[in-house]
Amino acid sequence: MSLATRRDRRESKGILHDFLEWVGLLGFIYGPLDRRLSVRDALEKALSRPIPHISWWGCFGGISLFLFLVQIGTGVVLMFFYVPTDPEAYHSIRYLNGTAPFGWLVRSTHHWSGNGMIFALFIHVIRVFVTGAYQRPRDLNWMVGMALFLFTLSFALTGYLLPWSQTAFWTTVFWTDMIGQIPIVGQWLLVLIRGGELVSGATLTRFYAMHVAVLPILTIVFMAIHFAIIRRLGIKEPL
Ligand code: HEM
Repeated sequence: MSLATRRDRRESKGILHDFLEWVGLLGFIYGPLDRRLSVRDALEKALSRPIPHISWWGCFGGISLFLFLVQIGTGVVLMFFYVPTDPEAYHSIRYLNGTAPFGWLVRSTHHWSGNGMIFALFIHVIRVFVTGAYQRPRDLNWMVGMALFLFTLSFALTGYLLPWSQTAFWTTVFWTDMIGQIPIVGQWLLVLIRGGELVSGATLTRFYAMHVAVLPILTIVFMAIHFAIIRRLGIKEPL
């Protein structure tokens, strides 16, 4: 083990110990839990692995994860106000933006953190590509990542319709029309996505279900696989 790695390990252990001491101050919650489940040992085992040779470019996967968590937090708050039906959706968003306390803040945070996640993902993919980390044995994780990228873009496409405004409506008409142009399967896909021939209340219901249930579950499962593989193989050595 090199001197630098040894020092990193010592330093990371120091910070970890400080953190655990601080958690220990929460005594009455943490104490009884720890006596039964040895939370401290488990945390020490999970967190005390030093991160090697990480640069700013290596932080964008973690930033994507952080922004995804912000999306879950703000998204759950939005669900308390949003009504996913044809006459109500637009008005519920207007109420949220104008009347509900801090509704505008939660909605804007959801909007910008979603955009930020796509931006961070782009940089993450470029970083992985440039460092050749898509090659064997990490090729499987590259494919898991591609699925994650697809899910993230689907979050954006399904979320865009939810305000049920003119812009949202016609943008959805436009891109689903484009899908309808795919040879052989296009029309079938179009009806599947829209829930009928036209963009309607049925499309809104379908997009809402995808946006708040199907995509989050798929993303969380694939993220767990992504992180388990990273944990197993480690981050790729610099070129
Ligand atoms: C929600 C989406 C994603 C999250 C939260 C995420 C998170 C992460 C994190 C935290 C790492 C470890 C260090 C780093 O940031 O580079 C990582 C590594 C990796 N990611 Fe992602 N990632 C996502 C999407 C993707 C995508 C779209 C791809 C490629 C198509 C991808 C491919 C990889 C690969 C191959 C590694 C291993 C890199 C190495 O060993 O150097 N990930 N990911």
